[in-house]
Amino acid sequence: MKKIVFFLGKGGVGKTTSSAALSFYLSSKNKTVYWVSIDPAHNLSDIVHLDLHKKTQINDFLFAEEVDVEGYLKNFLHNTTIRMKEMYKYLQIVNLENMFDLLKHSPGMEEYALMYALKEKIEENQEFEYIVVDTPPTGLMLKILSLPFSSKMWIEKLVRWRKRIIDHRGAIANINPEKIDDSLALKDEDDKVLKELGYQSDYITFLVNLLSNKSKCKMAVVLNEDEMSLSESMRIINGLKGLKLTLDFAILNKEGTGQKYPEKALNLPVIKMPYLRNAMDIKTLTNLGQRLKKIVE
Ligand SMILES: Nc1ncnc2c1ncn2[C@@H]1O[C@H](COP(=O)(O)OP(=O)(O)OP(=O)(O)O)[C@@H](O)[C@H]1O
Ligand SMILES: [Mg+2]
Repeated sequence: MKKIVFFLGKGGVGKTTSSAALSFYLSSKNKTVYWVSIDPAHNLSDIVHLDLHKKTQINDFLFAEEVDVEGYLKNFLHNTTIRMKEMYKYLQIVNLENMFDLLKHSPGMEEYALMYALKEKIEENQEFEYIVVDTPPTGLMLKILSLPFSSKMWIEKLVRWRKRIIDHRGAIANINPEKIDDSLALKDEDDKVLKELGYQSDYITFLVNLLSNKSKCKMAVVLNEDEMSLSESMRIINGLKGLKLTLDFAILNKEGTGQKYPEKALNLPVIKMPYLRNAMDIKTLTNLGQRLKKIVE
């Protein structure tokens, strides 16, 4: 994979249209493209009129897919439950069954499932030259992007604490071996919790490294000529700043439909896309995409 492109922005500004335009343009230039939606309210299929529940070939160079967010969430909870039950089976006083039922409805689960989906889809599709991601609106997307960074910090802390627990357990076992249950690990390499943390850490490090790789990962904010999409773009810029990530471009879409636009406020190179009155067919999208080629140059 040469580059991955994320289109961010407020609801309805033209993220899906921009991702379609770039995908069709690149594929018209014989570049292989994997165009993926991680927006739970998908609408790539509205553009190509195909069922995209599975990765589907659109033309010789373009494949598209709408990630099954519900399916990922179910799988994520199912697999986590199995691993946790196995890991903590010695803790009979804790009712894990109830705990996992609760987890299903906990805030943040959808974001976690989306983060895992994103990682798996990127990893599975490395053979494409370009991956173009259609994202959900700002609030959800900022949460998805910040999860790998906050999780990395927590996992590093948890690994340190876990190692201390194992150290202390070892010290107790030296003095009074019968106090330590046989199933409990006394060395880091035998501990199932550390193994699980290592597994989580691999996932998260993959995403942190990719998102932080300025030459591979390109991010553009899409906005229209209105105050609300401008202030939301500023929210994205500031949200990303907290993760030490930066945007590469602003796409001023539907140009000519609003007030004159204060471009300087964003401090980003701006690509303008006109408001198109005619239907958005593939040819129109491909032409529109030519304006976006700078993003991947
Ligand atoms: N340049 C344009 N000219 C005319 N219509 C446009 C243009 N860009 C987008 N649209 C139309 O605006 C609507 C919203 O666009 P789009 O679905 O791409 O936005 P979005 O940011 O992906 O929205 P959501 O947040 O709901 O996913 C669509 O009907 C689309 O066809
Ligand atoms: Mg969309």
